[in-house]
Amino acid sequence: MNTTTLTVRLAGSEDTEDILRIYNQGIGDRIATLETGLKDSAYMKNWFEEHQGRYSVMVAEQEGAVIGWASLKPYSHRCAYSGVADLSIYIERGFRGKGVGSVLLESLEAAAQANAFHKIVLFTFPFNHGGQGLYRKRGYREVGVLEKQGVMDGAFIDVMVMEKLL
Ligand SMILES: CC(C)(COP(=O)(O)OP(=O)(O)OC[C@H]1O[C@@H](n2cnc3c(N)ncnc32)[C@H](O)[C@@H]1OP(=O)(O)O)[C@@H](O)C(=O)NCCC(=O)NCCS
Repeated sequence: MNTTTLTVRLAGSEDTEDILRIYNQGIGDRIATLETGLKDSAYMKNWFEEHQGRYSVMVAEQEGAVIGWASLKPYSHRCAYSGVADLSIYIERGFRGKGVGSVLLESLEAAAQANAFHKIVLFTFPFNHGGQGLYRKRGYREVGVLEKQGVMDGAFIDVMVMEKLL
């Protein structure tokens, strides 16, 4: 795929249905999140309202179609951690592994810096090789693995913590 034709921009409320579709693909794939129930429009509208100000949501567009999104949320509500953001990123199934995530994450990191974050942290699964490929390529380091941190479909799941100083 030619990533020079990608447009990355801040998301607007008109993008929430596309964000929802792509998020639900990630939930269904059981590779990206401990969430197992598919989300609906009301959930996404509320989610979008919580991602305003410094907590950017960006979308990647190809020929007018949204094919990926990435967002920042607070790592913690304690003010000592106000410079740390927690990353989420999801690419439409048919467009994964084609460089979209790399372009999107680069833009989101620039937005994070512009919004006075000094660090991005993320929580991923040790078996999410696509995610780790992207994060390592963008300079994230593995902090460690939290064993049996979550439960998904009745089974314990390890969660890997990664971080990047901006
Ligand atoms: C994880 C995800 C966001 C990565 O985005 P992407 O657009 O697929 O990533 P890119 O194509 O930019 O790949 C970045 C690097 O990761 C590596 N990579 C990509 N897919 C990979 C795979 N399936 N296995 C191993 N490495 C992979 C490559 O080394 C690539 O670097 P390259 O440019 O040298 O080829 C995307 O695959 C996705 O949405 N997956 C489902 C949701 C998800 O897992 N989100 C993250 C939750 S923590």
